[in-house]
Formats: sequence, C-alpha cells, structure tokens
Amino acid sequence: SASLREASFTVCLDTLLGGGVVALPTETVYGLACLALDEQAVQKVFELKGRPPTNPLIVHVLDSHQAEQVARVNSFAKLLCQKFWPGPLTLILPKRQMIPDRVTAGLDTVAVRSPSHPLFRKVLREAGQPIAAPSANLFSMVSSTTPQEVFDSFGEACPPILDGGKCNIGLESTVLDLTSDTPSILRPGPISKEELEEFLGFEISTSKKTTDSSVARKSPGLSAKHYSTETPIRLYENIYAIQQIERWTADDLIILPCKDLIAGFDSAPATIITFSATGNTREIAHNLYATLKKADQLEKKLIHLALLEETDGLAGAVNDRLTRASSS
Ligand code: TXA
Ligand code: MG
Repeated sequence: SASLREASFTVCLDTLLGGGVVALPTETVYGLACLALDEQAVQKVFELKGRPPTNPLIVHVLDSHQAEQVARVNSFAKLLCQKFWPGPLTLILPKRQMIPDRVTAGLDTVAVRSPSHPLFRKVLREAGQPIAAPSANLFSMVSSTTPQEVFDSFGEACPPILDGGKCNIGLESTVLDLTSDTPSILRPGPISKEELEEFLGFEISTSKKTTDSSVARKSPGLSAKHYSTETPIRLYENIYAIQQIERWTADDLIILPCKDLIAGFDSAPATIITFSATGNTREIAHNLYATLKKADQLEKKLIHLALLEETDGLAGAVNDRLTRASSS
C-alpha cells in the first residue's frame, strides 16, 4: 500500500537535498520533485516517469523573486504573479542560463509556477531553491491526486511520498505562454481564459492540441494523446448522445457527471459510475482522475462518457482532459 512509501517531511527534504526524487503534494496534482538545478536529479525524474527528453518540466518557486533566479520576469509577468500566485498558473518565460537544458528540453524558455499547497511551500522554503516537478504519473497516463494513486503509478519504483491528502483542485495548472506577441494558453486549467482576460483587459489566444510538429515542439504537452486509461474511452458530445445508444452489454461502463443522471439509464445493463454527486464542476475536477482510475480497475471493455456543458472555464479544462484521454 501507499503507506509503505509515505515518508516524513524530514526524510523527503533530505532526499531532495541529497539529489533524490520525492513525490510532493500541490493544490493541483502530486508532483515528482527534484532540485531544479541538479541535472542528475532531473534525469532521474525523466527516467522514473518514462518521459521523453523532449518534454520539459515545470520549475516550482516560492514567489516572483525566486522566479527571477530561473527566468526573466518582466513587469507584465510580475502583474500576473501578483494576482494569481501562489496558485495554479504556470508562466512560460525566457529562461536564465543557470537552469539545466535538461529541465527545459533544450528550449530557451522555462515554465515556472508557485504552488499554494502549504507542504510544498514549506519544502521550497527549507530547500531554499527552485524545485522541478512534472505530474507524478507515468508518461501519457492519468495524473495522481492522492498518495495511493502515486504509489499505484510507480509500484516498486515509487519514491518517498509526502502525504498532503487529496489534492484540492485535482486538475493541472493553466499554462500561459508569455514569450510570443500575444499571451497564449498552452494548457487550459483551473485559471480560466476569461479570468485572465478580465484581469489583463485584452483577449488572449488558446493553442489547440495538435499534431503540427512546430507547435508540438513549442509545447510538447500539447500532444493529443495524454491522460490515458488502459480501457479505451468513447467520448460523446453530451449525455443525450449516450442515451441514444440502444444496445448495452455488461462489458460497457458509463461515467456520468452526477448521480441524478443515473435514472436516465435504468434499462441499460452497463455499469454506471459518476464523477460527482452534485454535478458541480469543481467537484468533478476534484474527482476526475480518481474516477478514471477506478473505471480502469473495473476492467470493462469500453468507457462511455460525455463532454461537460461548458458553463465555466473549469468545465472547459475538464473537457480538454477528457478529449485527450479519449484520443488514441
Ligand atoms: O499543476 C501542475 O502544473 C502540475 C503540478 C505538479 O505542478 N505539474 C504538471 O507538470 O502538470 P507536467 O510536467 O505534467 O506538465 C507540464 C506542462 C507540459 O505540458 C509541458 O510540455 C509544459 O508544461 N511545459 C513545460 N515547460 C515548457 C516550456 N518551456 N514551454 C512550453 N511548455 C512547457
Ligand atoms: Mg503531466
């Protein structure tokens, strides 16, 4: 069980400072953490995750002052930091030389964010230096939001886990590129496009997931296949489209956004689980990855699920993950 890998704060800090890898909680998802300036430690993170060296890591910092050590933070970026940090906003900025190329996959930009989870912040304070951390899951699989999910992802190779409970948000940070003419969202997340535009007072753009190699190089995380389950997923435009299916088998699994909707499927022999009790978008995001993993554990042949109605920005971010999870 995960308890085998849960380690004390001191053990985790010592492991990090000794050039090792630990799993740390953030407000979004668990991260697979190491000292950002330690190239060998960074290499261990890539190996453990099975991540291609072309996909760069996010560097976590305490605040915009520490961000200055690794990136060029212009006054415009500083405004965003003041407003949204600490929190689930990652900024792509010009990198400084001291950041190893391995971290940024050879790009001349670096992703920085200041997490709000008190335990991660305590680690940052006591380590006194920036920490690189991708999400704590195997490459292209579903992210982890609890210590148990981290352990299930890595098994015997699992690093020490600092137990911060279940992640509050459950969905990875919004990634905003500030190195082009117009700010551009590379990954939708908990801070919505509308929220950013309202603060900035002008429109920003969104990069679509793509197979275009030039965009893929700019942000490798945009590759369409991601957040995969073992069981294939069939994605529908809405719940109504699922209700139109006439033949179900016991090998089918339906995931609905909330409990109320189960009544509409009472004649289907398929198994039904839900992302939330209430259908509240925050609750859905909070349970998203755990529910996908639970779906896998049921070992059905096919998962049926529908895009959420985009009533808010977070629903758009959930839909982004569902779309990627269903693409093969
Ligand atoms: O919420 C989060 O962001 C979590 C927690 C642990 O902080 N981290 C996370 O890291 O989701 P990861 O590695 O799973 O996703 C980082 C994303 C990837 O899509 C990566 O391609 C992109 O950020 N990225 C990193 N550096 C970049 C850069 N210099 N330019 C463009 N995209 C970059
Ligand atoms: Mg990830």
